[in-house]
Amino acid sequence: MPSTSHPPAEVSEPLADWYRGAARDLPWRRTEFRKDFGAWGTLVSEFMLQQTPVNRVIPHLEAWLARWPTPAAMAAASPAEVVQQWANLGYPRRALWLHRAAIEISERHGGVVPNDIDALLKLSGIGDYTARAVAVFAYGDRHPVVDTNTRRVMARAILGRAQPGPPSRRDLALMDSLLPADVTESAVFNAAAMELGATVCTARSPRCDVCPLSDTCAWLAAGRPETGDTRRRQAAFEGSDRQARGAVLRVLRTAAPTPVLIDSVLADWPDPLQRDRAIDSLIADGLAEADGELLSLPR
Ligand code: ADE
Repeated sequence: MPSTSHPPAEVSEPLADWYRGAARDLPWRRTEFRKDFGAWGTLVSEFMLQQTPVNRVIPHLEAWLARWPTPAAMAAASPAEVVQQWANLGYPRRALWLHRAAIEISERHGGVVPNDIDALLKLSGIGDYTARAVAVFAYGDRHPVVDTNTRRVMARAILGRAQPGPPSRRDLALMDSLLPADVTESAVFNAAAMELGATVCTARSPRCDVCPLSDTCAWLAAGRPETGDTRRRQAAFEGSDRQARGAVLRVLRTAAPTPVLIDSVLADWPDPLQRDRAIDSLIADGLAEADGELLSLPR
């Protein structure tokens, strides 16, 4: 584990104070919303937040939980209904994984989202981040929750680097070494590190003048040096296969439950080979089903 010259409280206390005054008003932070939110609400929201920005998740979340308030309710739905409800949240394989996770929770855990990290990690579509986010934010347990924002905050405040290196298990160990011993404070610290990275310690325009860690930040003390940026660039969406897949799925969602003639799907797409690739890959991923000349959402 990287050594740190910062006593953890020097980081966690100012960060927690800042968070208590500056946290964004997000639905899952409101008491009245949390009443019925539960561990299932946390799991669904964290699934969506894996790759979709908060402002695009919020409008979908309430409708989603109203339709499927429990894992058992979602487990009883068809994959087509779940892909349909996923709408334009992007990376739609997550809809199928979430559906599978709901079935697994119903079958293995009596319909109750587990709080054990190993059991959470065994569910479809759940990795280190989502497993720990559920255990911490839903069950109040003490674990390090590390997302891309947290990794950037640690890279700067502790390691003195402009950007984090590639994700690794050392991130979890470093965050663990910074967590306050008190279980409630450790949950606040996890949320606060994510929030600071999302709103102040941003990738491109960090606002060090308003940062609660500016007195101790290793990167600021070193004069904000540029260090190698090893982040994976997100490929351009315009003109991409991902855009074509999204367009095909939109056609299927609009027509559902009626299947459409394969030849009529994006018949005027500028690159017919790309259109065919998109259809083939959606079928391979289980997001679409072909039956002779017809294409539909998965049944
Ligand atoms: N609170 C808990 N999880 C969160 C997330 N992924 N993004 C923003 N706020 C959160």
